[in-house]
Amino acid sequence: MRGYVRADLTCADCHIAAGMLPRGGSFIGTYARFPQWNRRAHRVIALQDRIAECFLYSMNGKAPAYDSKPMISIVAYIAWLSRGTPIGAKPRTSDSYIVPLPTAPPNLARGKALYRQRCEACHQPDGGGVGSVYPPLWGARSFNQGAGMAHLDRITGFVRYNMPQNAPGSLTLAEAYDVAAFVLSHPRPRFARNALVVTPALPAKYF
Ligand code: HEC
Ligand code: HEC
Repeated sequence: MRGYVRADLTCADCHIAAGMLPRGGSFIGTYARFPQWNRRAHRVIALQDRIAECFLYSMNGKAPAYDSKPMISIVAYIAWLSRGTPIGAKPRTSDSYIVPLPTAPPNLARGKALYRQRCEACHQPDGGGVGSVYPPLWGARSFNQGAGMAHLDRITGFVRYNMPQNAPGSLTLAEAYDVAAFVLSHPRPRFARNALVVTPALPAKYF
């Protein structure tokens, strides 16, 4: 993936166990849900378009061409993980980590204290992580502002079910919400629209 990615992240940092873990950003069944209507793009998108989005935003990079080896390999892998899923099958609730958020605003002071106790040992006090062992949570090498993970509902659910990595599921929803808001209160790369590949305006030819 070198050449396509600016963030110090791999797909598996957010799609845990290479996309095989329910509530861990699983790709099981994903292939059967594409092509699909996309509200942000206001058009029908192919799986390749969705993968391109994670390259642009989550990996703060640029998307490989749709007929390139990396793109075809990723699509083939997701298709293989999804084998047996009926086309159009809705994701099971038990596969998604997205949860309704508390209605009160998050408590950043509590989030900061939790970060010190439960996250800092791996992700570091400056949020920069450790090489390829512990991924960065904010700063220049993290996902950019356009990423799904930069939305409070996604990151809260992800943290609620998957972090801390040495004790997943040990945070309450309120705790995950506060610590996730603390993470998002730090700077991260802006999405530099001009610098990057623009996905085609029409549905892709490769379904
Ligand atoms: C910083 C975290 C992060 C990284 C890194 C990341 N993704 Fe994602 N990805 C997400 C989030 C968040 C979603 C949306 C989850 C949701 O809305 O249910 C998502 C969704 C997706 C989906 C749609 C899944 C579905 O079932 O609808 C695909 C496909 C995908 N990512 C592929 C990739 C690939 C391939 C890579 C590596 C090139 C990658 N992602 C890297 C966070 C990430
Ligand atoms: C024991 C080390 C460890 C601890 C503690 C830990 N993490 Fe992680 N974190 C990881 C690893 C490793 C990954 C990559 C995914 C995986 O392999 O599970 C990750 C991935 C992530 C990601 C998605 C990838 C990225 O860099 O954006 C987020 C968000 C995250 N952690 C937040 C947290 C938060 C918040 C806490 C504290 C509540 C926490 N983590 C505690 C090791 C840790």
